[in-house]
Amino acid sequence: MTPNTPSTPRHSGGSLGARSAAHLWGHFARHGEGITPPVITRGEGVRIFDDAGRSYLDGLAGLFVVQVGHGREELARAAAKQAEQLAFFPLWSYATPPAIELAERLAAYAPGDLNRVFFTTGGGEAVESAWKLAKQYFKLVGKPGKHKVISRAVAYHGTPQGALAITGVPALKEAFEPLTPGAFRVPNTNIYRAAEDLADDPKKFGRWAADRIAEAIEFEGPETVAAVFLEPVQNAGGCFPPPPGYFERVREICDEYDVLLVSDEVICAFGRIGSMFACDDFGYVPDIITCAKGMTSGYSPIGAMIADDRLFEPFRDGTTTFAHGYTFGGHPVSAAVALANLDIFEREGLNDHVKTMAPAFRSTLERLDDLPIVGDVRGEGFFYGIELVKDKSTKETFTADESERILRGFLSSALFDAGLYCRADDRGDPVIQLAPPLIAGQAEFDEIEQILRSVLTEAYTLL
Ligand SMILES: Cc1ncc(COP(=O)(O)O)c(C=O)c1O
Repeated sequence: MTPNTPSTPRHSGGSLGARSAAHLWGHFARHGEGITPPVITRGEGVRIFDDAGRSYLDGLAGLFVVQVGHGREELARAAAKQAEQLAFFPLWSYATPPAIELAERLAAYAPGDLNRVFFTTGGGEAVESAWKLAKQYFKLVGKPGKHKVISRAVAYHGTPQGALAITGVPALKEAFEPLTPGAFRVPNTNIYRAAEDLADDPKKFGRWAADRIAEAIEFEGPETVAAVFLEPVQNAGGCFPPPPGYFERVREICDEYDVLLVSDEVICAFGRIGSMFACDDFGYVPDIITCAKGMTSGYSPIGAMIADDRLFEPFRDGTTTFAHGYTFGGHPVSAAVALANLDIFEREGLNDHVKTMAPAFRSTLERLDDLPIVGDVRGEGFFYGIELVKDKSTKETFTADESERILRGFLSSALFDAGLYCRADDRGDPVIQLAPPLIAGQAEFDEIEQILRSVLTEAYTLL
């Protein structure tokens, strides 16, 4: 066979959707008769376009990723320039200029003594790396029993088997049990569904929720617990911001029990809440930050675990190694793109834009409160969840059957058909997740509100 006569044709014809259905295995996707995924071919600013040329408002920044918006030529140029200079070299005992510069820059943005940057290719690997570091660190400082981790109910922390064990969504884990042992759950900060005596007092609720972490550490034995993994604003379940005083108390608890506080900022970092790192938005200093998504605005994949100097100390004796890494971790092209992306953040004042416009985003979405299907509108910065309920006065949620019919069967595609890309999610109670690119303004907020209003009004009639 000559190189010009491949054994299988490149494609068998038909639409891109049909070709996708034939060979592409979607992530977290259903497959089967009649299911063809929408095909997105182009992006420009806050908009994406499909293969039929239809335009949609990107209400989720891809997947909480495209902070600076789509179609930025300068990021494509930064990638090309680095690929021409040095497309690839690993960080396995070597270094590259863009990885060095990006590590310096992230350390400068990070609070406290979080000065040591370990690169990955994405968020789940950053979480995985943080747990492994926590285990090895405690072995090296003479506390080898400390290996367990604590995280919150319904929280999503990624899909590698360690990160998945930290994830608090049973339905995502069932198929892969047994997972890495040693991960335990505490309640999240969903005040909308808090017990009656706590729901009207956010401070009291925050104290209660934080104290559950101390309780879990006591239950497991402080000498066995290594780390607590928390998002600044929890995504899965529908955007749970921390109540006042929550992180202050968590920090106290972690210090008291010598347990590492890992701020999982895979979604919240890089301006989503208004600062480079969202721990700054909520006034706490973690021991480790995990981040990814917005670091390059998605123009190339990368993630990072940023550790406090103290955690790196036992690894600087000349012989001790963190025996962990990824071929593509800190890829030079991705690191160069991240630097160019962060330049855009600085030049265009994106974080200030988010801080300035966040109240308008909130009040625009809160207009939806008048709809009977909207139970709660919650979030921070450019990161919101709208919880849908069957009965607003009792907060009654949908049955599994109604969720399937309304959320999956109607809402997801109806919103998309109406020109809004976002997510209807039911990992906890059903919510619509919104996180537009950080360049969005009032015009986009209004468009989101109008599309949601019309589609949610129709959804209610299907109940
Ligand atoms: C908080 C959090 N941690 C970890 C992850 C996993 O990141 P990735 O999909 O890049 O592996 C995600 C993904 O959405 C996330 O939201």
